[in-house]
Amino acid sequence: MADTGTWPTGRTLGYGGDYNPEQWPRETRDEDVRLMAEAGVNFVSVGIFSWALLEPREGEYDFAWMDELLDLLHAAGIAVDLATPTAAPPAWFYATYPEARVVTRDGVPLGPGSRGACSPSHPAYRAAARNIASRIAERYADHPAVVMWHVHNEYGAPVGEDYSDAAVAAWRTWLADRYGTLDALNDAWGTRFWGQVYGEWEHVQAPGPTPATVNQAQQLDYARFTDHQLRALFVAERDAIREHSDKPVTTNFMANECPTTDLWAWAREVDVVSNDHYLTAADPRGHVGLSLAADLTRSVAGGRPWILMEHSTSAVNWQGRNVAKRPGEMARNSLAHVARGADVVGFFQWRASRYGAEKFHSAMLPHAGTGSRVWQEVVSLGADVGALAELQGSTVQARVALLWDTESFWAQDLPWRPSDDLRHRERTRAYYERLWRDGMTVDFAHPTADLSRYALVVAPASYLLTADAAANLTRYVAAGGTLVVSCFAAVVDEHDAVHPGGYGAPLRDVLGLRVEEFLPLRAGESGTVTWTYDGATTALGAPVWAEDLALDGAEVAAHHADGRAAGGPAVTRHEHGDGVAWYVSVPLDVDGLAPVLAAACADAGIAPSDTAEDVEVVVRHGHDADYVLAINHTEAAATVSGVEGTDLLHGGAVGPDLKVPAGDVAVVRMGPGPAAAGAGGPSGPEPRTTESRRRADATTFDEEER
Ligand code: GAL
Repeated sequence: MADTGTWPTGRTLGYGGDYNPEQWPRETRDEDVRLMAEAGVNFVSVGIFSWALLEPREGEYDFAWMDELLDLLHAAGIAVDLATPTAAPPAWFYATYPEARVVTRDGVPLGPGSRGACSPSHPAYRAAARNIASRIAERYADHPAVVMWHVHNEYGAPVGEDYSDAAVAAWRTWLADRYGTLDALNDAWGTRFWGQVYGEWEHVQAPGPTPATVNQAQQLDYARFTDHQLRALFVAERDAIREHSDKPVTTNFMANECPTTDLWAWAREVDVVSNDHYLTAADPRGHVGLSLAADLTRSVAGGRPWILMEHSTSAVNWQGRNVAKRPGEMARNSLAHVARGADVVGFFQWRASRYGAEKFHSAMLPHAGTGSRVWQEVVSLGADVGALAELQGSTVQARVALLWDTESFWAQDLPWRPSDDLRHRERTRAYYERLWRDGMTVDFAHPTADLSRYALVVAPASYLLTADAAANLTRYVAAGGTLVVSCFAAVVDEHDAVHPGGYGAPLRDVLGLRVEEFLPLRAGESGTVTWTYDGATTALGAPVWAEDLALDGAEVAAHHADGRAAGGPAVTRHEHGDGVAWYVSVPLDVDGLAPVLAAACADAGIAPSDTAEDVEVVVRHGHDADYVLAINHTEAAATVSGVEGTDLLHGGAVGPDLKVPAGDVAVVRMGPGPAAAGAGGPSGPEPRTTESRRRADATTFDEEER
């Protein structure tokens, strides 16, 4: 990732969203910019799906409408994140290059009439994508409205894997680069099993339909290849832009949602990390999933500020049941992203669509218009974001890291595992949520990363763990770190082959045990383990999974009270070098993890917060001040102790404790004295007065009661 120097919105936070005015008559735009000013919008993304309008026929361009739009936005003081429109190839492209369509695993080519990329492996699509990116960058490189480039949209969705002829040809080339020889490929994939040995590169297929399950190492490599091809497409567009412009380039990720992209690798290719996040309506604790996605985004960004490119003001339209946000929820969501490092708050989209697939999706300017509660909350949030200008560039620091390895997740998701019930996503969320409820700010880290700055490292789902990564974790503990490893860990290497020496072998020394056998439970069964560490006797539910462990130096912190492993160890602790390693061989739920993580935190010398559950508190560290952001997700007022300073949203002094009303958010600049200007630059709009804030809130809550 390049150092971008100046932040795209200057010394302020950005506020805005996707702006797709081409779906509206020209006269709507004047009203749009007027209302954007009212809402405090200073940043919009345009042109994301505009290829058919910008290049109506191959090689014929119409930039007039975009020229006018950018001039209009510039005159209104709104910065533009200008997109390349390659996530929606025009109908002429499909008609001219039908062989460039993406083909599904079942052999169905995907046609026009919707959106989604063509085959990233097809030379015609690559060339056309590069060309339109280059034309746009050439024309607008020096346009004063344009502050950055938004390449494509959400790589990997809705198009991820591709089984077209072009993809298969590229796959063979990719394999030849990776393995050099067919012998090396045969060894890596273990093709002697089930007689799959290849004698010619042309015989190697994509892992399409087969009579029984496809070779799993082949499937894992296809996931790597898919990610690589998508990224190569991004790089081609990015480099086309860089020939004309040195403004920062981004593309919007879907942290935690898109299974086909390895964000660690993607983050190295962009200048600024951006993310889209939508609540999962079926998840009643979606705000925890939001925090997880935001922490992951900040982590792949290397701790630097990032852009929340899209979220929703209220309901989305693409889930089974699209639940609308309640008063105050949008602000809590937006400011939770800010708390975790976002320096731009963006939405999909500015004005609700009348036509097409997303007409039931909420927007900043909803169908119900400016008299609506959502609009009033959008205006109120714009003022809040404006009042937080001085937070720009401040960072979040964590003492706890959760390991995140996309390759391990790909591998664990392959078929024919010991149990369908043990899911990396569920385990990651359970551990994350335990730490979230305990008020711990968490980074995500790759298992091979330098972990020395963390007091506690948690490995919730490390099914695939290379020998190098295991050595890294072992060194971390030996040097004094505290490690918690969850079940089904270090089972396979990078080729999905069981480690020599058996399950968990590379972690044997640090954990002080061997895993002899997996003992998955039948559907509906659940076991109990008894936590006895430190003189306690607590029964904890252990659903889904157990393991048969043979101890080799570890002490038992909890044992199985029943089931196939009755009497055997379930949770262990092992001192190794100057540190401690815990192994949790059962998938304890969020409550069951409480004593385990409390004990591990004690080993690590860190303490959970005493703030009420569901009151989220994060600190952003600036050059001149620290900022406490407290988000109260509960229906009761909450107190955060030891917060003294200036309330940037409500105005006034705070201390010695911070009171956060039910459902509200507070942002406090720590330290004594009245509001001072931020780090040397413009300090942004004045904080709103308590009275104006109360007025906005009163509208909000009165309407709810009606
Ligand atoms: C995103 C996408 C947007 C819009 C949004 C709706 O995934 O980038 O264009 O479709 O979802 O929630």
